[in-house]
Amino acid sequence: EKDGHDWFMRKEILEQPRAVADSLIGRRTPSGQLQLDEMRLADEELRDVDKIIIIACGTSFYAGMVAKYAIEHWTRTPVEVELASEFRYRDPIIDATTLIVAISQSGETADTLQAIRHARSQRAKVLAICNTNGSSIPRESDAVIYTHAGPEIGVASTKGFLTQLVACYLLALYIAQVKGTRFGDEIDEIMRHLEAMPDHIETVLGTAEQVYGLAAEHASTRSVLFLGRHAGYPVALEGALKLKELAYLHAEGFAAGELKHGPIALVEDGLPVLCVVPPKGRDQLHGKMLSGIQEVRARGARTICLAEEGDDSIEPYADALIRLPKVPVLLQPLVSIVPLQLFACELATVLGHDVDQPRNLAKSVTVE
Ligand code: F6R
Repeated sequence: EKDGHDWFMRKEILEQPRAVADSLIGRRTPSGQLQLDEMRLADEELRDVDKIIIIACGTSFYAGMVAKYAIEHWTRTPVEVELASEFRYRDPIIDATTLIVAISQSGETADTLQAIRHARSQRAKVLAICNTNGSSIPRESDAVIYTHAGPEIGVASTKGFLTQLVACYLLALYIAQVKGTRFGDEIDEIMRHLEAMPDHIETVLGTAEQVYGLAAEHASTRSVLFLGRHAGYPVALEGALKLKELAYLHAEGFAAGELKHGPIALVEDGLPVLCVVPPKGRDQLHGKMLSGIQEVRARGARTICLAEEGDDSIEPYADALIRLPKVPVLLQPLVSIVPLQLFACELATVLGHDVDQPRNLAKSVTVE
């Protein structure tokens, strides 16, 4: 069932254009309005929500971090993102106008389930974003948005992550529509960008051979750093997690602006640093990222940069340059994570590890 691939993970990475397309089916009425019918949460209830807390673990937590940027920007509703395993131990401030969004691919993660139970005992409404029909997490939630990744068999989450991102974007846009925020006007435009994503992901999958070459070249490294900013920061964290779990390497993701506050001391000659470069926009994000890249390179790092098509400013500072399609900054994680997934999958393969069954890990973590 691996369709001729060596690993389920590789097959699942390649299935991402389809998984994202499936997650967008039926989300718009003929007049272009966004609909999330299956969700079972009334518009009046959503309109009353004045705070959102996202709870999740691992890769799903990083999807939640991206969601925070999107929800706050498009809906102006404050969002906290919390590791499910920490949530109930800090006496969180929750009431009937707090919406809890629990993100879980498997729907069986014990930490997330316990956090949901705690939130509901405090009268909060819980919306699950889940890939597994009828699993415990949607069953114990008030509402659910199902992702349409199809079964994810590789232990490392890939298409699960991308479809979680899509569900989070849809939720953000839906809240914007219901609340009538000023970004309501842009919903149509953002939806068109989302609908173009399967093609963009296909394009970025075209970098696979280049990425595999880079993975082979760096197979003897003992450590890899990942840098990102804004929505690219969770991507850096997720890229590092993939490498830890599959290649058993020291890998760390940082917000590029934090480098100078400590982590830059880690940089030494030959250290590979993967840099997720934000699109050139009106803000200063791009320029600041560029100076972060210059800083690490000046200290001997080998910079592997992921930057959008046509961004020439990166060329002088990139030892390797992987091209990304041009997309809005908030949606960039859907394309920028893909080369990082390919990198981890290939590096682990070169090292001779079992990519689908990494040591010490299970697909569903049903203990706290
Ligand atoms: C990483 C990975 C894990 C899961 C985490 C949460 O590749 O798969 O970090 O993301 O255990 O699992 P779910 O989403 O099933 O709750």
